[in-house]
Amino acid sequence: MALFKKNTTAYSIDNIILPEHVGIIMDGNGRWAKKRGLPRSAGHSAGANNFRKIIRYCSDIGIKYLTMYAFSTENWKRPNDEVTALMKLFKQYLEEALRDFQDDTIKLRFIGDITAFSKEIQDLMYEAVEGSKNRDGMVLNLAMNYGGRDEIVMATKTIAQKLKNGEITAEDIDEKMISDNIYTAGQPDPDLIIRPSGEYRTSNFLLWQSAYSEYVIMDKLWPDFTKEDMNYALIEYAKRNRRFGGV
Ligand code: FPP
Repeated sequence: MALFKKNTTAYSIDNIILPEHVGIIMDGNGRWAKKRGLPRSAGHSAGANNFRKIIRYCSDIGIKYLTMYAFSTENWKRPNDEVTALMKLFKQYLEEALRDFQDDTIKLRFIGDITAFSKEIQDLMYEAVEGSKNRDGMVLNLAMNYGGRDEIVMATKTIAQKLKNGEITAEDIDEKMISDNIYTAGQPDPDLIIRPSGEYRTSNFLLWQSAYSEYVIMDKLWPDFTKEDMNYALIEYAKRNRRFGGV
């Protein structure tokens, strides 16, 4: 994995083959706030504004699937006031999506165990998914209370129950069956995963799905991540020679 520190201005994505599915680990909100002497929640607020900008951009340029890591199964361990601030931002975004984006083409989905959220947030999530389900534009997967390991455990339990019920035999279990029982069932695996903030970790993001994803790690904190940075990552992806284990 290479770390990109270059000035990412004026990168044109005309004439490049775009990835079908992009995943983004929105990292660096806390450091962004700290650098400015602000509370971490201010970093998340700036991160949420950037989230709006980047999802719109991805939809405009024709990305088909976008998965954004908004809240992990481990993020509950953060201080109460930080978790509360994040919940407030999620609620604001969902209300805004329901109120203002009636003519939108983006289809919203959630991946993760959303039963852990308040009833109010869960209701907004269901409403947003229901209201956007017939749209034909970009699929936006919001990873909320998502963990790649947790997802694999969930799929294993579902499959074990089918085995117990006699619906399948152990020989029927294959990679496709696992892919069909995880949150992203029916969607292509991510081609490209972008991690701003310079950390070389997967942080439990799309563990099963990212077996052959290309990673681009960028030295930019999420609130500072621009459309130009997105273009840079897309160009970097287009230059990669994907062999999927072959030659
Ligand atoms: C990681 O940065 C970021 C998060 C745990 C939260 C991501 C959430 C947002 C960007 C808000 C999304 C909002 C909506 C509406 C979906 P960090 O806090 O770990 O940063 P640090 O590593 O610099 O401390």
